[in-house]
Amino acid sequence: MNVGTEIELHQETWSFADSIAHFDEHILQSVPHCQEQREYIAALSKFFLYSGSRVYEIGVSTGGLAQALLNLMPERDFQYIGLDLEHEMIAKARERLKGEPRFQALQANATTFNFEPASVIISYYTLQFIPPAERHALLKRLYQALTPGGALILYEKTLGENAPIQDLLNQLYLDFKSAQGLSPDAILNKALALRGVSLPISLTQNISQLRLAGFETIELVYRAYCFAGFLALKPACCASD
Ligand SMILES: C[S@@+](CC[C@H](N)C(=O)[O-])C[C@H]1O[C@@H](n2cnc3c(N)ncnc32)[C@H](O)[C@@H]1O
Repeated sequence: MNVGTEIELHQETWSFADSIAHFDEHILQSVPHCQEQREYIAALSKFFLYSGSRVYEIGVSTGGLAQALLNLMPERDFQYIGLDLEHEMIAKARERLKGEPRFQALQANATTFNFEPASVIISYYTLQFIPPAERHALLKRLYQALTPGGALILYEKTLGENAPIQDLLNQLYLDFKSAQGLSPDAILNKALALRGVSLPISLTQNISQLRLAGFETIELVYRAYCFAGFLALKPACCASD
């Protein structure tokens, strides 16, 4: 089944393992402002990263965001740890950032990983692929891993708040994909393959989920089409949990 950028799925269900060879082009065609927002996340992270601190990225893929962030702060001495389920993604990320001593890529499932204290945690369109029942426990653990004053930067595909808004956002997104040169077949096949794999929730539900995990300060830092970025802060005053 062709889902664009010459990606052939071997089964009817979307899997990142099938998309690795063309992942870098495919994500640019599928995610609006993808590279621009990676750079924006890097700029945001600069406020929270200091020498000796640590940043985690959940779903590092081939290391595109990691590269943007590390390049922005060549002299700051922190550790960037990227996690991904797919070992070939990890291999590509390591290759991209070889010679960068601050970068480490680990094959791991974020839902069971033991996070060390970190001042920044990034999830760039990854949480939506984690089963909804596991998201609360993961977000709570991320909150606990953040050092006081630390930041979670969460980007997600979202659902509209009601049917007319969902329809409008979805149609605008179809226009975007079509303008990227994806064929109607590729667009439809990807949508079918993502059923039960990408499970987005609404903007309001995302904010509630972050609050439930412990975050009090939550700012919307990006919104376009059906995509949203949140900056969620852990209070600087809390020394525990
Ligand atoms: C949309 S991509 C992330 C894009 C990446 N941040 C970038 O800027 O290129 C989502 C990634 O999350 C990974 N992933 C999905 N579930 C995961 C989990 N439970 N733990 C770790 N990685 C996961 C996938 O293998 C995939 O590489």
